[in-house]
Amino acid sequence: MSGRFSTLRNGFKAAAFSRQAHSHAQQAQSAFARASQSSRTALALSLVSGGTLAWYSALYGNPLFGEVKAESAADHGLHAPAYPWAHKGMFETFDHSAIRRGYQVYREVCSTCHSLDRVAWRNLVGVSHTVTEAKTMAEEVEYEDGPDDQGQMFQRPGKLSDYFPRPYDNDEAARSGNAGALPPDLSLITKARHGGADYVYALLTGYVDPPPGVEIREGLNYNPYFPGGAIGMARVLYDGLVEYEDGTPATTSQMAKDVVTFLAWASEPELDQRKKMGMQATIILSGLLALSIWTKKFKWAGIKSRKLVYNPPAK
Ligand code: HEC
Repeated sequence: MSGRFSTLRNGFKAAAFSRQAHSHAQQAQSAFARASQSSRTALALSLVSGGTLAWYSALYGNPLFGEVKAESAADHGLHAPAYPWAHKGMFETFDHSAIRRGYQVYREVCSTCHSLDRVAWRNLVGVSHTVTEAKTMAEEVEYEDGPDDQGQMFQRPGKLSDYFPRPYDNDEAARSGNAGALPPDLSLITKARHGGADYVYALLTGYVDPPPGVEIREGLNYNPYFPGGAIGMARVLYDGLVEYEDGTPATTSQMAKDVVTFLAWASEPELDQRKKMGMQATIILSGLLALSIWTKKFKWAGIKSRKLVYNPPAK
Protein backbone atom coordinates (compact mmCIF):
# COMPACT_ATOMS: atom_id res chain seq x y z
CA MET A 1 0.00 0.00 0.00
CA SER A 2 2.62 2.48 1.06
CA GLY A 3 4.84 1.56 -1.97
CA ARG A 4 2.07 2.38 -4.43
CA PHE A 5 1.39 5.63 -2.75
CA SER A 6 5.00 6.75 -2.83
CA THR A 7 5.35 6.05 -6.57
CA LEU A 8 2.27 8.02 -7.22
CA ARG A 9 3.63 10.89 -5.19
CA ASN A 10 6.95 10.82 -7.10
CA GLY A 11 5.08 10.88 -10.39
CA PHE A 12 3.19 13.97 -9.30
CA LYS A 13 6.41 15.65 -8.19
CA ALA A 14 8.07 15.04 -11.56
CA ALA A 15 5.11 16.43 -13.46
CA ALA A 16 4.97 19.45 -11.18
CA PHE A 17 8.70 20.08 -11.66
CA SER A 18 8.51 20.07 -15.44
CA ARG A 19 5.52 22.42 -15.35
CA GLN A 20 7.48 24.73 -13.04
CA ALA A 21 10.55 24.79 -15.28
CA HIS A 22 8.41 25.56 -18.29
CA SER A 23 6.53 28.39 -16.61
CA HIS A 24 9.78 29.85 -15.22
CA ALA A 25 11.04 30.36 -18.74
CA GLN A 26 7.73 31.86 -19.81
CA GLN A 27 7.65 34.13 -16.80
CA ALA A 28 11.15 35.42 -17.46
CA GLN A 29 10.18 36.30 -20.99
CA SER A 30 6.88 38.01 -20.18
CA ALA A 31 8.41 39.79 -17.20
CA PHE A 32 10.85 41.42 -19.58
CA ALA A 33 8.04 42.36 -21.94
CA ARG A 34 5.95 43.66 -19.08
CA ALA A 35 8.82 45.66 -17.64
CA SER A 36 9.49 47.47 -20.88
CA GLN A 37 5.78 48.02 -21.44
CA SER A 38 5.12 49.25 -17.92
CA SER A 39 7.99 51.75 -18.11
CA ARG A 40 6.47 53.09 -21.29
CA THR A 41 3.08 53.30 -19.56
CA ALA A 42 4.68 55.00 -16.58
CA LEU A 43 6.36 57.50 -18.88
CA ALA A 44 3.09 58.21 -20.67
CA LEU A 45 1.26 58.60 -17.39
CA SER A 46 3.91 60.94 -16.00
CA LEU A 47 3.75 63.03 -19.15
CA VAL A 48 -0.05 63.26 -18.99
CA SER A 49 -0.16 64.13 -15.29
CA GLY A 50 2.78 66.54 -15.57
CA GLY A 51 1.08 68.21 -18.50
CA THR A 52 -2.22 68.45 -16.67
CA LEU A 53 -0.46 69.94 -13.66
CA ALA A 54 1.36 72.49 -15.83
CA TRP A 55 -1.82 73.43 -17.65
CA TYR A 56 -3.79 73.75 -14.40
CA SER A 57 -1.01 75.81 -12.79
CA ALA A 58 -0.88 78.10 -15.80
CA LEU A 59 -4.63 78.70 -15.53
CA TYR A 60 -5.24 78.79 -11.79
CA GLY A 61 -1.87 78.86 -10.00
CA ASN A 62 0.10 76.06 -8.45
CA PRO A 63 -2.26 73.59 -6.74
CA LEU A 64 0.47 71.97 -4.63
CA PHE A 65 2.25 74.94 -3.09
CA GLY A 66 0.80 78.30 -2.12
CA GLU A 67 -2.20 79.95 -3.78
CA VAL A 68 -4.76 77.66 -5.32
CA LYS A 69 -7.48 80.23 -5.89
CA ALA A 70 -8.00 82.45 -8.88
CA GLU A 71 -8.96 85.28 -6.50
CA SER A 72 -7.14 86.74 -3.54
CA ALA A 73 -8.47 86.87 0.03
CA ALA A 74 -9.33 90.56 -0.45
CA ASP A 75 -11.76 89.64 -3.22
CA HIS A 76 -13.83 87.69 -0.68
CA GLY A 77 -13.73 90.46 1.90
CA LEU A 78 -12.49 90.16 5.45
CA HIS A 79 -14.41 87.56 7.44
CA ALA A 80 -16.62 89.26 10.04
CA PRO A 81 -16.01 88.32 13.68
CA ALA A 82 -18.81 86.58 15.60
CA TYR A 83 -20.52 89.18 17.80
CA PRO A 84 -22.46 88.31 20.97
CA TRP A 85 -25.95 89.24 19.75
CA ALA A 86 -28.62 89.29 22.42
CA HIS A 87 -30.80 87.02 20.27
CA LYS A 88 -28.10 84.48 19.44
CA GLY A 89 -28.64 81.83 22.12
CA MET A 90 -31.14 79.00 22.02
CA PHE A 91 -33.18 80.53 24.82
CA GLU A 92 -32.76 84.19 23.88
CA THR A 93 -35.22 86.58 22.27
CA PHE A 94 -34.56 89.77 20.33
CA ASP A 95 -33.59 92.80 22.38
CA HIS A 96 -36.77 94.73 21.65
CA SER A 97 -35.54 98.10 22.85
CA ALA A 98 -32.64 97.64 20.42
CA ILE A 99 -35.20 96.96 17.64
CA ARG A 100 -36.95 100.21 18.55
CA ARG A 101 -33.71 102.19 18.53
CA GLY A 102 -32.66 100.39 15.35
CA TYR A 103 -35.88 101.42 13.65
CA GLN A 104 -35.04 105.02 14.51
CA VAL A 105 -31.57 104.65 12.96
CA TYR A 106 -33.06 103.05 9.83
CA ARG A 107 -35.68 105.80 9.50
CA GLU A 108 -33.30 108.68 10.12
CA VAL A 109 -30.22 107.38 8.29
CA CYS A 110 -30.59 104.33 6.04
CA SER A 111 -34.08 105.01 4.65
CA THR A 112 -32.78 107.92 2.56
CA CYS A 113 -31.14 105.32 0.28
CA HIS A 114 -32.40 101.85 1.24
CA SER A 115 -35.93 100.51 0.89
CA LEU A 116 -37.45 97.99 3.32
CA ASP A 117 -40.15 96.63 1.04
CA ARG A 118 -41.28 93.66 3.08
CA VAL A 119 -42.00 95.49 6.32
CA ALA A 120 -45.39 97.11 6.91
CA TRP A 121 -46.25 99.57 9.68
CA ARG A 122 -48.44 96.96 11.33
CA ASN A 123 -45.39 94.71 11.77
CA LEU A 124 -43.95 97.15 14.31
CA VAL A 125 -47.04 96.88 16.53
CA GLY A 126 -46.29 94.87 19.63
CA VAL A 127 -42.66 94.44 18.62
CA SER A 128 -41.15 97.86 19.03
CA HIS A 129 -44.08 100.32 19.00
CA THR A 130 -47.65 100.60 20.24
CA VAL A 131 -50.61 100.71 17.84
CA THR A 132 -51.03 104.46 18.34
CA GLU A 133 -47.34 105.12 17.71
CA ALA A 134 -47.32 102.99 14.57
CA LYS A 135 -50.51 104.64 13.29
CA THR A 136 -49.10 108.11 13.88
CA MET A 137 -45.87 107.24 12.06
CA ALA A 138 -47.81 105.74 9.13
CA GLU A 139 -50.02 108.80 8.84
CA GLU A 140 -46.99 111.05 8.43
CA VAL A 141 -46.34 109.40 5.06
CA GLU A 142 -48.46 110.10 1.94
CA TYR A 143 -49.46 107.09 -0.10
CA GLU A 144 -51.00 107.01 -3.54
CA ASP A 145 -54.33 105.22 -3.62
CA GLY A 146 -57.25 104.94 -5.95
CA PRO A 147 -58.80 105.09 -8.38
CA ASP A 148 -61.68 107.09 -6.84
CA ASP A 149 -65.22 107.50 -8.27
CA GLN A 150 -63.87 109.69 -11.07
CA GLY A 151 -61.11 107.23 -11.88
CA GLN A 152 -58.43 109.50 -10.43
CA MET A 153 -55.57 108.36 -8.24
CA PHE A 154 -55.28 110.33 -5.04
CA GLN A 155 -52.92 110.82 -2.11
CA ARG A 156 -53.92 109.75 1.37
CA PRO A 157 -52.14 109.42 4.72
CA GLY A 158 -50.64 105.99 5.43
CA LYS A 159 -52.42 103.18 7.25
CA LEU A 160 -51.08 100.36 9.38
CA SER A 161 -51.43 97.98 6.44
CA ASP A 162 -49.18 100.08 4.20
CA TYR A 163 -45.61 99.00 3.59
CA PHE A 164 -42.64 101.25 4.34
CA PRO A 165 -42.19 103.91 1.65
CA ARG A 166 -39.29 103.52 -0.78
CA PRO A 167 -36.69 106.27 -1.11
CA TYR A 168 -36.57 105.98 -4.92
CA ASP A 169 -39.29 105.26 -7.45
CA ASN A 170 -37.23 102.61 -9.22
CA ASP A 171 -33.80 101.00 -9.35
CA GLU A 172 -32.60 103.34 -12.09
CA ALA A 173 -33.35 106.40 -9.96
CA ALA A 174 -31.62 104.69 -7.02
CA ARG A 175 -28.52 103.99 -9.12
CA SER A 176 -28.31 107.47 -10.56
CA GLY A 177 -28.58 108.89 -7.03
CA ASN A 178 -25.67 106.72 -5.84
CA ALA A 179 -23.00 106.98 -8.52
CA GLY A 180 -24.23 103.85 -10.28
CA ALA A 181 -24.36 101.58 -7.21
CA LEU A 182 -27.75 100.16 -6.26
CA PRO A 183 -28.54 100.32 -2.53
CA PRO A 184 -30.11 96.89 -1.96
CA ASP A 185 -33.45 96.43 -0.21
CA LEU A 186 -32.65 95.71 3.43
CA SER A 187 -35.69 93.53 4.31
CA LEU A 188 -33.72 90.29 4.05
CA ILE A 189 -30.17 91.59 4.09
CA THR A 190 -29.04 89.64 7.16
CA LYS A 191 -30.18 86.48 5.37
CA ALA A 192 -28.78 87.48 2.00
CA ARG A 193 -25.15 87.97 2.97
CA HIS A 194 -22.54 85.52 4.16
CA GLY A 195 -22.00 86.28 7.84
CA GLY A 196 -25.50 87.73 8.27
CA ALA A 197 -25.86 90.21 11.13
CA ASP A 198 -22.15 89.97 11.96
CA TYR A 199 -21.28 91.00 8.41
CA VAL A 200 -23.63 94.01 8.32
CA TYR A 201 -22.31 95.21 11.69
CA ALA A 202 -18.70 94.75 10.61
CA LEU A 203 -19.47 96.58 7.35
CA LEU A 204 -21.09 99.58 9.04
CA THR A 205 -18.28 99.96 11.58
CA GLY A 206 -15.42 98.79 9.33
CA TYR A 207 -14.63 101.87 7.23
CA VAL A 208 -10.89 102.62 7.33
CA ASP A 209 -8.32 104.32 5.09
CA PRO A 210 -7.19 102.07 2.24
CA PRO A 211 -3.86 100.39 2.97
CA PRO A 212 -0.83 101.58 0.95
CA GLY A 213 -0.94 100.29 -2.59
CA VAL A 214 -4.71 99.97 -2.75
CA GLU A 215 -6.26 102.42 -5.18
CA ILE A 216 -9.94 103.25 -4.66
CA ARG A 217 -11.78 104.77 -7.58
CA GLU A 218 -13.43 108.19 -7.28
CA GLY A 219 -16.89 107.78 -5.71
CA LEU A 220 -16.09 104.46 -4.03
CA ASN A 221 -15.01 103.88 -0.45
CA TYR A 222 -12.65 101.39 1.12
CA ASN A 223 -14.14 98.77 3.43
CA PRO A 224 -12.19 95.56 4.01
CA TYR A 225 -15.36 93.59 4.88
CA PHE A 226 -16.99 94.31 1.52
CA PRO A 227 -15.96 91.73 -1.09
CA GLY A 228 -13.43 93.48 -3.31
CA GLY A 229 -12.87 96.24 -0.75
CA ALA A 230 -14.42 99.09 -2.77
CA ILE A 231 -18.03 99.87 -1.81
CA GLY A 232 -20.41 102.44 -3.24
CA MET A 233 -21.82 103.32 0.18
CA ALA A 234 -19.76 105.79 2.20
CA ARG A 235 -19.49 105.54 5.96
CA VAL A 236 -22.89 106.68 7.26
CA LEU A 237 -22.71 106.22 11.04
CA TYR A 238 -20.86 108.78 13.16
CA ASP A 239 -21.01 109.25 16.94
CA GLY A 240 -24.03 111.32 17.97
CA LEU A 241 -25.78 111.13 14.61
CA VAL A 242 -29.19 110.35 16.10
CA GLU A 243 -30.67 111.26 19.46
CA TYR A 244 -32.20 108.22 21.16
CA GLU A 245 -35.39 108.89 23.10
CA ASP A 246 -34.34 106.46 25.84
CA GLY A 247 -31.12 108.38 26.45
CA THR A 248 -28.76 105.66 25.18
CA PRO A 249 -25.52 107.33 24.01
CA ALA A 250 -25.59 107.16 20.20
CA THR A 251 -22.07 105.97 19.48
CA THR A 252 -21.23 104.51 16.07
CA SER A 253 -21.09 100.96 17.42
CA GLN A 254 -24.32 101.42 19.42
CA MET A 255 -26.22 102.62 16.34
CA ALA A 256 -24.75 99.86 14.23
CA LYS A 257 -25.74 97.25 16.80
CA ASP A 258 -29.26 98.65 17.05
CA VAL A 259 -29.88 98.97 13.32
CA VAL A 260 -28.51 95.48 12.70
CA THR A 261 -30.78 94.07 15.42
CA PHE A 262 -33.67 95.84 13.70
CA LEU A 263 -32.65 94.39 10.31
CA ALA A 264 -32.21 90.92 11.82
CA TRP A 265 -35.76 91.20 13.15
CA ALA A 266 -36.99 92.38 9.71
CA SER A 267 -35.37 89.32 8.10
CA GLU A 268 -36.66 86.90 10.69
CA PRO A 269 -39.65 88.38 12.55
CA GLU A 270 -40.77 84.95 13.71
CA LEU A 271 -37.53 84.24 15.63
CA ASP A 272 -38.94 84.77 19.16
CA GLN A 273 -42.06 82.75 18.37
CA ARG A 274 -40.05 80.00 16.70
CA LYS A 275 -37.73 79.54 19.67
CA LYS A 276 -40.69 79.48 22.05
CA MET A 277 -42.49 76.87 19.95
CA GLY A 278 -39.29 74.85 19.69
CA MET A 279 -38.99 74.86 23.47
CA GLN A 280 -42.63 73.81 23.87
CA ALA A 281 -42.23 71.02 21.33
CA THR A 282 -39.04 69.80 23.04
CA ILE A 283 -40.70 69.74 26.46
CA ILE A 284 -43.86 67.98 25.23
CA LEU A 285 -42.02 65.48 23.05
CA SER A 286 -39.51 64.56 25.77
CA GLY A 287 -42.45 64.04 28.17
CA LEU A 288 -44.07 61.75 25.62
CA LEU A 289 -40.78 59.92 25.06
CA ALA A 290 -40.40 59.29 28.81
CA LEU A 291 -44.00 58.10 28.94
CA SER A 292 -43.55 55.71 26.03
CA ILE A 293 -40.35 54.27 27.52
CA TRP A 294 -42.18 53.71 30.79
CA THR A 295 -45.18 52.10 29.00
CA LYS A 296 -42.91 49.81 27.03
CA LYS A 297 -41.13 48.66 30.19
CA PHE A 298 -44.45 48.20 31.94
CA LYS A 299 -45.93 46.12 29.11
CA TRP A 300 -42.85 43.95 28.70
CA ALA A 301 -42.15 43.46 32.39
CA GLY A 302 -44.37 40.40 32.63
CA ILE A 303 -42.87 38.82 29.53
CA LYS A 304 -39.24 39.65 30.24
CA SER A 305 -39.35 38.30 33.82
CA ARG A 306 -41.23 35.11 32.87
CA LYS A 307 -39.46 31.84 33.55
CA LEU A 308 -40.46 28.71 31.65
CA VAL A 309 -40.02 25.48 33.57
CA TYR A 310 -40.43 22.04 32.11
CA ASN A 311 -41.37 19.36 34.54
CA PRO A 312 -41.06 15.96 32.88
CA PRO A 313 -43.98 13.76 33.75
CA ALA A 314 -43.13 11.45 36.57
CA LYS A 315 -42.82 7.81 35.35
C1 HEC B 1 -26.27 107.72 0.86
C2 HEC B 1 -26.96 106.51 0.59
C3 HEC B 1 -26.86 105.39 1.60
C4 HEC B 1 -27.16 105.41 2.95
C5 HEC B 1 -27.62 106.57 3.79
C6 HEC B 1 -26.97 104.06 3.41
N1 HEC B 1 -26.55 103.25 2.39
FE1 HEC B 1 -26.17 101.29 2.50
N2 HEC B 1 -25.69 101.24 0.54
C7 HEC B 1 -25.72 102.33 -0.31
C8 HEC B 1 -25.28 101.91 -1.62
C9 HEC B 1 -25.17 102.80 -2.84
C10 HEC B 1 -24.98 100.54 -1.52
C11 HEC B 1 -24.45 99.63 -2.63
C12 HEC B 1 -22.94 99.57 -2.50
C13 HEC B 1 -22.27 98.76 -3.58
O1 HEC B 1 -22.87 97.79 -4.08
O2 HEC B 1 -21.11 99.06 -3.87
C14 HEC B 1 -25.25 100.15 -0.17
C15 HEC B 1 -25.08 98.88 0.33
C16 HEC B 1 -25.44 98.48 1.59
C17 HEC B 1 -25.38 97.13 2.08
C18 HEC B 1 -25.03 95.91 1.25
C19 HEC B 1 -23.58 95.61 1.18
C20 HEC B 1 -23.37 94.34 0.37
O3 HEC B 1 -22.80 93.40 0.92
O4 HEC B 1 -23.81 94.29 -0.77
C21 HEC B 1 -25.82 97.14 3.36
C22 HEC B 1 -25.95 95.94 4.30
C23 HEC B 1 -26.11 98.50 3.69
N3 HEC B 1 -25.86 99.29 2.61
C24 HEC B 1 -26.60 98.88 4.93
C25 HEC B 1 -26.89 100.19 5.24
C26 HEC B 1 -27.39 100.59 6.54
C27 HEC B 1 -27.70 99.65 7.68
C28 HEC B 1 -27.54 101.92 6.49
C29 HEC B 1 -28.02 102.83 7.59
C30 HEC B 1 -27.26 102.81 8.80
C31 HEC B 1 -27.15 102.36 5.15
N4 HEC B 1 -26.76 101.29 4.43
C32 HEC B 1 -27.18 103.67 4.72
C33 HEC B 1 -26.12 103.60 0.01
C34 HEC B 1 -26.49 104.02 1.26
